[in-house]
Amino acid sequence: MSESQKFWEKQSTNYKTAFEDLDELANYLDKTERRHLLKVVKTKPNFKVLDLGCGTGRWAFEFAKTCEKVVAVDFAKGMIDRAKEEAKNRGFTNIEFGVAGVEDFRSEERFDIIIISGVLVYFEDENLNSILKNVKKHLAPNGIVISRETVGIDKRLDFRDKFNPKIGQTYSALYRTPEEYKQIFLKSGLKNIYAEDFVPTNFPMTIYRKIIPSSLKQNWALRKILQSGLLVQYFLDPILLNQKWLYRPLMNRFWKIKSMLFVYGIN
Ligand SMILES: C[S@@+](CC[C@H](N)C(=O)[O-])C[C@H]1O[C@@H](n2cnc3c(N)ncnc32)[C@H](O)[C@@H]1O
Repeated sequence: MSESQKFWEKQSTNYKTAFEDLDELANYLDKTERRHLLKVVKTKPNFKVLDLGCGTGRWAFEFAKTCEKVVAVDFAKGMIDRAKEEAKNRGFTNIEFGVAGVEDFRSEERFDIIIISGVLVYFEDENLNSILKNVKKHLAPNGIVISRETVGIDKRLDFRDKFNPKIGQTYSALYRTPEEYKQIFLKSGLKNIYAEDFVPTNFPMTIYRKIIPSSLKQNWALRKILQSGLLVQYFLDPILLNQKWLYRPLMNRFWKIKSMLFVYGIN
């Protein structure tokens, strides 16, 4: 088992979206990303969807609501076990789960949508080309690839083998720039057709993550304030996303990374 696989097996027991320890933050991110993605990507009832590195299955469940079939794979068996359990609880019968690495995934099926969310940051540059060629091989003729990725805002950031106290493990990730992703995909025969930020500014999250001391994070009153802050931000996000001139300089000043939605089509 690779180091990365061991890492994710360990994470699978308590993993929430983007390693958030608080439900409020995980739910906010999930809700925001879901709303944004569904506005951009339109599904059809006969669509087949492939979710690579599906984690606990949030995208698989979303597409299973409106599409004929979803195949969802992850190399961490713990993640797949959780996703299967949740699929059963929610009554989905059109999701096929499998334990597989993105790099080894093989199927005779062709997919209208392939989603790879929060996974590419864990691959080295030299492996990305063959991985994306494999992804492209599994696309139906008019299929699209959706990639949700954390990117470096003005430069690539290399966080390899850094101990992360929040998750209690050494964590490695490569935050490439949006332009780097566009070029990498292009080399694999996939052209970028959409690239936008998910969250314009995340003040309530940032304050909670960075300023509130750990000992106070579970405080009832502070959590209520956080919930209200996130609610306000949820309504402000779509307005702000259309005002790039306003939030981009602010974002570039305070944050080094951001989460983006990319959509690629066959070149
Ligand atoms: C940050 S989580 C994202 C989970 C999910 N896609 C989402 O957006 O919520 C990354 C997931 O990718 C999986 N993963 C990482 N590298 C992988 C690989 N080489 N093959 C398959 N899955 C991988 C991990 O096990 C983990 O479940």
